Amino acid sequence: MKELKVGIIGFGNMGAHLGRALDHATGGLVTVAGVVDPDDEKYQRNCDFLGNKPQRCATIAELRKMPLDGIIVASPNHCHLENIQELQGLSTPLLLEKPLDANFDKICDVLRFSEEYSGPIIVDHVMRYAPIISQTKKLVDSGAIGQICSVSFVQNCFYGNSMYHCFRRTMAGSGGMFIEKATHDLDIMHYIVGARASRVAAIARRQAFGGNKPNDLHCRQCDERFTCPESSNNTQYRYGNTDKMFEQSWANDMCVYAEEVDVPDNEVCMIEFDNGTFGTYTQCFFSPVSYTTREYEITGLEGILRLSLTIQGNHDKGRILHCPRFGTPEDSTVYEFDYRKRMHYNGGGAVARHFCQLMTGEAEPFTTVRQAFAAELLGQAATLAAQRGEFVVPQELLPDDLQGLWEEL
Ligand SMILES: NC(=O)c1ccc[n+]([C@@H]2O[C@H](COP(=O)([O-])OP(=O)(O)OC[C@H]3O[C@@H](n4cnc5c(N)ncnc54)[C@H](O)[C@@H]3O)[C@@H](O)[C@H]2O)c1
Repeated sequence: MKELKVGIIGFGNMGAHLGRALDHATGGLVTVAGVVDPDDEKYQRNCDFLGNKPQRCATIAELRKMPLDGIIVASPNHCHLENIQELQGLSTPLLLEKPLDANFDKICDVLRFSEEYSGPIIVDHVMRYAPIISQTKKLVDSGAIGQICSVSFVQNCFYGNSMYHCFRRTMAGSGGMFIEKATHDLDIMHYIVGARASRVAAIARRQAFGGNKPNDLHCRQCDERFTCPESSNNTQYRYGNTDKMFEQSWANDMCVYAEEVDVPDNEVCMIEFDNGTFGTYTQCFFSPVSYTTREYEITGLEGILRLSLTIQGNHDKGRILHCPRFGTPEDSTVYEFDYRKRMHYNGGGAVARHFCQLMTGEAEPFTTVRQAFAAELLGQAATLAAQRGEFVVPQELLPDDLQGLWEEL
């Protein structure tokens, strides 16, 4: 089999992880040949992490001249549209990091771009590839809980503080957590429920982060770095993992108490779907390391599924509990998933292999831009619902030229 070469735009934490996953999951078939990243330090650090020194291109125009089999866009959310637009006219397979962008108008433009692009595109909605989610989908489709009536998804994110140490801490940088983080959960909700959201209500507050520190303050220069409980070195210490893979994730150390921080850190939304199902999604970004959960409850007329995606200590065993409605405790079944040392509930390797097959023409996109758009449209509706204090109808947010796609989402 021919060796495949990829280019990465945004060679930070996720770009480097994707590069490494591509190498590992394909037995070294895929190499990162070129990258674009404005940050010298991150480029050097991530070359060390990758164990390879890809050519550093000053611009995307330079990168696109290289003979590449695939291109990954893993820059900060607010750069995605600008980066992608520079790939116009190519047909090279693309892997886009979620979310499509940080701003809803630009998210719509990424969708428009993808509808015109002549090559295949996948979005890194890595949870759809995780075995625990595939098994859940199989159980739901086999009728294990009958018709779905409601869903309740909750995420208490122990590494939530890391979100406020980087570009994610402003609405302009990330789009807010209903778009940046919830896009995974809302996408899985769509995948499982199989319907579109007809209206959304939400409450969002910023309760733990933000303050009056200068916007340019970094933990490494701060006099309070040993006493501040949220300094990047203290959060890393609490996390307690000195593994290179995890250390690399803590490279961003902007102050979580800076003036510009405007992203809510605790939020809940209530969603009604057009098939009568309803659901809630709650996410909190100041959860202790000792209490980190991502729990999905799916209630059907014939039983309940409870997914414990993250149990204490991130990336330990995940579990699905299936309880039939008319059964006794003996009729319950537990499915366990071991994802120690594996990223994203063991979905990371599967995305990498899928992207490899996309590059060789052996697969069609599994996680599409339309799916990502649907999740982000719902996230945008939740963001506006929280700001306005009223129900928002996602379809009404679609610009006229995209209304025709509503039935396809
Ligand atoms: N799929 C997932 O589960 C998942 C997980 C983590 C991050 N992500 C996504 O990956 C993206 C990157 O996140 P991260 O955690 O790696 O952030 P990061 O800050 O570690 O990396 C971003 C990199 O992009 C570089 N950059 C900044 N401006 C750029 C530009 N204009 N062009 C090219 N590069 C630029 C930065 O120097 C940095 O090295 C985000 O969109 C994020 O949402 C996805």
